[in-house]
Amino acid sequence: MDLINKKIQLLIDTLKVSSDYDFSGYSIKSFTRRVAKVLETYNIDLDTLTRRVQYDVVFVENVVKEITVNTTELFRNPQSWQAIKYRILPKFENQKTINIWHAGCSTGQEVYSMLILLNELKMLDKARIFASDINEDVIKTAKKGIYVYRFNMTYLDNFDKVIRQNPYNFEHYKNVPYSDYLIIDKEKDTISAKDFLKNRVTYIKQNLVKREQIFKTQFDIIFCRNVLIYFKQELQTQMYRYFYQNLKNNGFLILGYHESILGQQAQRFNRKGLYYTKKLV
Ligand SMILES: C[S@@+](CC[C@H](N)C(=O)[O-])C[C@H]1O[C@@H](n2cnc3c(N)ncnc32)[C@H](O)[C@@H]1O
Repeated sequence: MDLINKKIQLLIDTLKVSSDYDFSGYSIKSFTRRVAKVLETYNIDLDTLTRRVQYDVVFVENVVKEITVNTTELFRNPQSWQAIKYRILPKFENQKTINIWHAGCSTGQEVYSMLILLNELKMLDKARIFASDINEDVIKTAKKGIYVYRFNMTYLDNFDKVIRQNPYNFEHYKNVPYSDYLIIDKEKDTISAKDFLKNRVTYIKQNLVKREQIFKTQFDIIFCRNVLIYFKQELQTQMYRYFYQNLKNNGFLILGYHESILGQQAQRFNRKGLYYTKKLV
């Protein structure tokens, strides 16, 4: 192990004993990249960082926020959303309730995508939606639902692909106005979710790594997109076991567009194109 890796390992061990955060299951490569960003932000070296996390709890929280990657967008990977629209949600048409959990929801764009889609399919009223993240700041942003317009023009392209167009029949174009769901203010440079969507969601600060059973219910759909890519294979396997426990039989697990279940948990799920279902026990 070279010196940098030794020091990174010491930081991980120190965080584990002196705080509530265990990053030992995170991929060392991406963890090291994020730590480099922290060192730059605070203009300190790795030894100072490791010393400070032992006594400064506020600092630890800020470090954790910097270490997590929060990239997201509305209807990210539209093909996945088309699968949710045409393959998954129709299965719940006759069900009275539908329980959904967005694990690693970041700033909420994934949650608003689902809310919009549920409303389009007239399923919003029966949906119970939970969203969780380790980072309190992103949860605050998610609750507000206000994003920078200029940087997020792709949101509207994605909206068109998922909400307006039908990839299976181009004649079935539905001209849903953006203003049904989004308020675009070009002067303020904001794109915001409408209020009727916001109060439908229960947000929770949660560290997935702890795998606590925090819900009293099992889920019909669990989203965990672009979160486990930062974990080592062993922790990924434990997370799949955890999601398996929290899913109803035949429930759906939706991972990121480029993710797939590897290892021993793979046999407990059926792969159906862009998503998984829990096998019957
Ligand atoms: C790249 S974002 C993905 C957001 C969204 N799911 C998507 O695909 O667009 C990853 C999110 O996972 C969260 N995260 C990372 N480690 C976590 C953990 N141990 N527990 C809960 N959330 C975590 C990060 O804070 C971040 O907001």
